[in-house]
Amino acid sequence: MTLASEMGQRLFLTGATGFIGAHVLRAAIAAGHEVDALTRSKGNAEALEARGAKSITGDLSYREGAWREAVRKADAVIHLAQPQTFGRRVTTERARQYCLHRLDMDRALFKAIDPAKTRRIVYVAGTSYYGDCGPEICDETAVPHPRGWGPYLAPAIESLPEYVARGLPIVAAFPGWVYGAGSWFAQYVLEPLRDGRPVYGLRGPARYTSPVHVEDCARAILHLTGHGEIGSRYFIVDDLPVPGERLAEIAAKALGVRGRGRKLPFVMLRLLSGHVIADSLAYENRLSNHRLKSTGFSFAFPSCEQGVPNAVQQWLINQLDRNR
Ligand SMILES: NC(=O)c1ccc[n+]([C@@H]2O[C@H](COP(=O)([O-])OP(=O)(O)OC[C@H]3O[C@@H](n4cnc5c(N)ncnc54)[C@H](OP(=O)(O)O)[C@@H]3O)[C@@H](O)[C@H]2O)c1
Repeated sequence: MTLASEMGQRLFLTGATGFIGAHVLRAAIAAGHEVDALTRSKGNAEALEARGAKSITGDLSYREGAWREAVRKADAVIHLAQPQTFGRRVTTERARQYCLHRLDMDRALFKAIDPAKTRRIVYVAGTSYYGDCGPEICDETAVPHPRGWGPYLAPAIESLPEYVARGLPIVAAFPGWVYGAGSWFAQYVLEPLRDGRPVYGLRGPARYTSPVHVEDCARAILHLTGHGEIGSRYFIVDDLPVPGERLAEIAAKALGVRGRGRKLPFVMLRLLSGHVIADSLAYENRLSNHRLKSTGFSFAFPSCEQGVPNAVQQWLINQLDRNR
């Protein structure tokens, strides 16, 4: 059975204040859905209300809380909340804690869902779970070789079939490198370019990756609440895998700066950013969006050649607004 995602649904959205979640919220409100948006902080709750959501203050680390009531009433749940991943060096210990904490959050959320009421749960994972796919284009049936964050996402992703078997209508979404006017793209690419600092990369041959503009990613996640098949996985990546450094090259051009790439050996990059981030740059990941497109989804930015200039433009506007 498919839901008509164009029709108003009652959505429960976790991670609504995050990088992707903010765009999912905007797309959901624009499409006429009623959104119960979860946040841990009162300040964020006010911002969510201002954007048209009904804010629910709660923490998935705790099994109890008023948020459970809102979950039980949802036609669809979109689960984006995750422990913090960026902003500091990502050591192996920090990644292990991430893994355990994420499993706890998932468990608490899934326990609160009423499968008789909720028709889809879109669980947002990441393509680092598939990791090293070699030089061929892969689809969702490929054997995963988790890299970067992937090994720390794997226990959560590999628990999903058991929840599906227990009757939860889970659709798993796997976004690739999600670029936009925030998160890692601002931290590792746009801010260094603006400040004349180098954009660090890994020495050696060009390694291809599969990017997606955050607005397309958000629209695809929302689309899957209506068109995703229960128990299936969907890559959310644009049409064109590119060498990782291509995103910084396009961004530099859009910013009108020369841009200094500095390629470091793995050990140096690991010292600078931690093992997980260094490993995220060390593998090939060319993924197909055929399955997603076969559900009727189409991209506003089919490649980063179109999408990155738009993301840069958005980021510049945000900078101006912040400085006003
Ligand atoms: N960003 C990417 O490039 C990328 C790529 C592929 C896949 N993904 C996946 O996409 C998902 C979203 O990523 P993102 O980068 O948008 O996330 P993010 O910006 O790191 O935001 C994390 C969100 O989780 C919420 N959160 C954290 N701990 C919580 C808790 N204990 N209880 C309730 N909410 C909690 C935060 O809300 P409050 O602080 O308001 O409570 C925040 O909204 C993740 O599953 C990630 O693995 C991301």
